[in-house]
Amino acid sequence: MPKQTVSPPGPRHLLSILDLKDDLPALLKRASVLKAQRQAGRLGTPFRGRALAMIFEKPSTRTRSSFELAMTELGGHAVYLSPQDMQLGRGETIPDTARVLSRYYHGIIYRAFRHQDEEALAHASSVPVINALDDREHPCQVVADLLTLSERWKGGFRGRRLAYIGDGNNVLNSLLLGSALVGLDFVAAIPQEYRPPAEVVAQARALAAEAGAASEIVVSPREAAKGADALYTDVWVSMGDEAEEAERKAAFAGYQVNRALLDRAKPGAFAMHDLPAHRGLEITDEVMDGDRQAIWDQAENRLHAQKAILELFLGPGRRPR
Ligand code: CP
Ligand code: NVA
Repeated sequence: MPKQTVSPPGPRHLLSILDLKDDLPALLKRASVLKAQRQAGRLGTPFRGRALAMIFEKPSTRTRSSFELAMTELGGHAVYLSPQDMQLGRGETIPDTARVLSRYYHGIIYRAFRHQDEEALAHASSVPVINALDDREHPCQVVADLLTLSERWKGGFRGRRLAYIGDGNNVLNSLLLGSALVGLDFVAAIPQEYRPPAEVVAQARALAAEAGAASEIVVSPREAAKGADALYTDVWVSMGDEAEEAERKAAFAGYQVNRALLDRAKPGAFAMHDLPAHRGLEITDEVMDGDRQAIWDQAENRLHAQKAILELFLGPGRRPR
């Protein structure tokens, strides 16, 4: 018998929303079903005996809670790991950590400062790694956002226009790419010096063109908001950008989602925010506390979206190696 030289295929990871290229429509449908099952008290426990490691280098309210609760509600178990409390914080390498955790867990979610660390963990892991936010993307957030939009727009994404106002950050990158994947028209108003990386813009343009959708970046929030079906914003100072706080606050001063900006959008348009928000900066109290917003639905939908993601990447039948 010839010696087997081809390595077994590695696990499938979710490091970018692009890793969901062919799965997004089905994933969103599945998240809706899981949401309805929870509401009806009919969720099963298919994750019995399955475990998830959750490494968080940065704080989290929604991502941590929704992944942990998703595992619990599906009958599995999640373990929170903070680098300060792990040997990772004392110099154990990311690949060695990945090798060890792969022997215990069915999957790892990782909130990292650097996308390259996310890739290093995935490279050495024999179980799926899911990006729980890094400096480049926040794919799980955008699955929940698209779920929220699909609920509001029962007719689907085609012909709808989502406008993003603010920083060209991790959330924007995933939204830009995710909108293109589902054929949603997308426009972002971003100051010139805070635009996303050119290759992300180019990838989004190519995907949008394939889907027959628009993908544009402009400077003026008023231009982006005009005729939009929803206005999305995120913080001006992301985790890791704190040293630039003063200059960012100055650069984004005109990029607030408020009543006047919502009035430029279509009648019935609503505001979105991934949270946490800095009230009075990128969004007003009035918008957050009013009824022209989908913000709290977005937050709830993290839970339902995580379950669909967990099923796809580490559901029953997918084993640690
Ligand atoms: N939107 C989001 O990811 O929130 P957390 O930082 O609280 O997880
Ligand atoms: N852009 C924000 C998102 C927080 C969920 C950050 O990275 O801090």
